[in-house]
Amino acid sequence: MAAEPEVLADEHPLMRQGMGRLRGRVAVITGANSGIGRATVDEVIAREGGQAVFTKIDVTKQEDCDRLLTSALEAFGDLDILYNNAGAGIRKKLHEHTDDEWNFVLNTNLNAMFRGARAVLPHFIKKGSGNIVTTASTFGLLASAEYPGYCATKAAIVNLTREMALDYGPLGIRVNCVCPGAIETPRFRGFPPKPTLSGITEEQRKTMGSSNKALLRMGRPEEIAYGVLFLVSDEASFVTGHALVIDGGQTIDA
Ligand SMILES: NC(=O)c1ccc[n+]([C@@H]2O[C@H](COP(=O)([O-])OP(=O)(O)OC[C@H]3O[C@@H](n4cnc5c(N)ncnc54)[C@H](O)[C@@H]3O)[C@@H](O)[C@H]2O)c1
Repeated sequence: MAAEPEVLADEHPLMRQGMGRLRGRVAVITGANSGIGRATVDEVIAREGGQAVFTKIDVTKQEDCDRLLTSALEAFGDLDILYNNAGAGIRKKLHEHTDDEWNFVLNTNLNAMFRGARAVLPHFIKKGSGNIVTTASTFGLLASAEYPGYCATKAAIVNLTREMALDYGPLGIRVNCVCPGAIETPRFRGFPPKPTLSGITEEQRKTMGSSNKALLRMGRPEEIAYGVLFLVSDEASFVTGHALVIDGGQTIDA
């Protein structure tokens, strides 16, 4: 759930009719007004035949995260899936960060996973089932220069995913994460090139941004949405503690 999005009907043209894999399920998706989160909502709604309620929340606040559960219960009477997707990063060297900047990244990425999960887990435990997916990053597996808080939090998400899978698997709850490579979302599009790269064309910037050696392009938000859909569906019923890399080959030979 997120701020009400401006609907762009043709934003994700590659999405095809779904197979109803989530029929009857209730999911909350954070960061759903943009990029990867919006693509995931679009997929579930437009292709799987669902409905959505949008709620404006701040994932850095526990009381807002608690509303992820209460809003779902009020609107749909249940909750089956939490997709922690909201995220942010600050590009500068570690010693240049203020406390506020450092805490902003930790709160938006790692602590939001903790808060979101803490809000929904009592309900999942009571039901004896549930699914949690979080958006990590290939920068949780590899480092990226001048991105300390982002790299640290995304790596922590990967290992917290494994830890939670151990704790909650016996209770019927699966916990996974996705590690996107460079995906062409508003966040990335708005990202300024480094000063040394000024003068390059937009096309060159995209290619460099993608930094992948196989598919030689940036990914599309819906290509992450399909991975998330798999992880939360029954097709992935034996998959837990997994970090699903969707990166067009970025990490193949790293
Ligand atoms: N785009 C990429 O190349 C890429 C690569 C790897 C991982 N990711 C991750 O994917 C996720 C989605 O990012 P995106 O690329 O779609 O970017 P985006 O900027 O399009 O979306 C980010 C979303 O997070 C939400 N958000 C940020 N802070 C929030 C807060 N405090 N409370 C509630 N919502 C908040 C924003 O409103 C927005 O909807 C992030 O976790 C990001 O780190 C993105």
